[in-house]
Amino acid sequence: MSEHRYIGIDLGTSAVKLLLVDGKGHIEGSVTKTYPVHFPRPGWTEQAPQDWWEAVVSGIRELMKGRDPSTVAGIGTAGQMHGLVILDEKDEVIREAILWNDGRTQAETDWLNETIGQEKLSDLTANIAFAGFTAPKLLWLAKNEPENFARIRKIMLPKDYINYRLTGVHSCDFSDASGMLLLDVKNRCWSQEMIELCGISGEQLPRLYESGEVTGTLTAEAAKTLGLPEGVKVVAGAGDNAAAAIGTGTLGEGMVNISLGTSGTVFISSESFAVDPHNALHAFCHADGYWHLMGVVLSAAACNQWFCGDILKTDDYAGEQEAILPERLGCNPVLFLPYLMGERSPVNDTRARGVFAGLSLDTSRADMVQAVFEGVGFAIRDSLEVARSLHIPIEGSFLCGGGARSPLWRKILANILNIPLYLPKTEEGPGYGAAMLAMTGCGEYESLKDCAAALTGAVGREDPDPALAQRYEKQYAKYKELYPALKHVFPKLNS
Ligand code: XUL
Repeated sequence: MSEHRYIGIDLGTSAVKLLLVDGKGHIEGSVTKTYPVHFPRPGWTEQAPQDWWEAVVSGIRELMKGRDPSTVAGIGTAGQMHGLVILDEKDEVIREAILWNDGRTQAETDWLNETIGQEKLSDLTANIAFAGFTAPKLLWLAKNEPENFARIRKIMLPKDYINYRLTGVHSCDFSDASGMLLLDVKNRCWSQEMIELCGISGEQLPRLYESGEVTGTLTAEAAKTLGLPEGVKVVAGAGDNAAAAIGTGTLGEGMVNISLGTSGTVFISSESFAVDPHNALHAFCHADGYWHLMGVVLSAAACNQWFCGDILKTDDYAGEQEAILPERLGCNPVLFLPYLMGERSPVNDTRARGVFAGLSLDTSRADMVQAVFEGVGFAIRDSLEVARSLHIPIEGSFLCGGGARSPLWRKILANILNIPLYLPKTEEGPGYGAAMLAMTGCGEYESLKDCAAALTGAVGREDPDPALAQRYEKQYAKYKELYPALKHVFPKLNS
């Protein structure tokens, strides 16, 4: 095995996480750099691409402190999906990026789904429109910021902007491109009809690559800024969910990965192309050259961060969880609907909002923290139920993301879903998967499959307890009644 090292970048929503990994897959170092999310209006989210780049630069410099830069052979980037980054003719950023959980495009999403029609969209792209996807954002921009729209020379996704700053190449990989509603997912190429429908041209889109393909090497300027050699290779990378799946070994036929990050996702890999007939699950390309289905809970660990951090004003997350008594699991009188930024799967409703139901004078702080964990678990179960309704057998799943570090949340989730959850060697899913793509692209392993066989696997499992799972079954039935009962109230709340 070589002495080479690889950098895996996970460009998340609250922070960028950088990993330094050796050729055997050992994580030698990890650095996290945060940046702000801007909320220009309720339900809108934006970030400055320059903040991402500065965080990547200072993060890599910190990661490499005291280490030999000449050993770095490759970089792979995973990133938050769907965000709209637009560059002008000088490749400068025109406006702040509009993020994956931004809900401003309800009108454009409705126009796409109702006027163009879900059937046509699904034929062209294997998906229908969701407000967070990139195409509705382009339509919104054309209508609301025509001067900015007219200046666009390149349309990019968040991680592709980082890759552009590293290599000077405008690239995109198939997994991330799938979330733009501009890709013909089945045939792995841009959809000319969708391009025309959005009033753009093919030249404004980046060139497509498979995730492990090398797109270039560091520019002289990037090498100097980062303190790395110019020969470092950069691979196309992947959307964060596809990269997380690679990082846990979820590739090939019928594997499942659940991520409990800012968002929550249920990711089902497949070697054949398939579409959910109701399009409740996304049908996207995977980073392994095949495909996957995915359900997305827009606010997962974000709910816990919001409730503990912003509302209870504490950063003692473990302390909050210690107050939750084991006998209270599965019989909490408080229910929580986690739709803090609207919801994607399966309800596709930007106007939905979070709800605590069942509060009384004896409700405790612990009941409410527990309800937040359970509500996110029920929302994930909703996506799993869609998969089950398609007769996809789900006998277990890997679990990754920040939320997976909580033993209590793992237990609650395993019992709500009533399946065993496997704990991967590293829960640093996206960054580790991105490093694996770089390793494969640089020839460290013959194929991604070989790389995954060598580096991934389960180191533990969380099994459901039949009695507790049964109690959660009853709780889930109550939870399922909340959204239909409130659906018509939400638009009035935030009009
Ligand atoms: C997936 C999605 C989120 C973001 C989070 O469709 O919108 O999981 O990728 O970073």
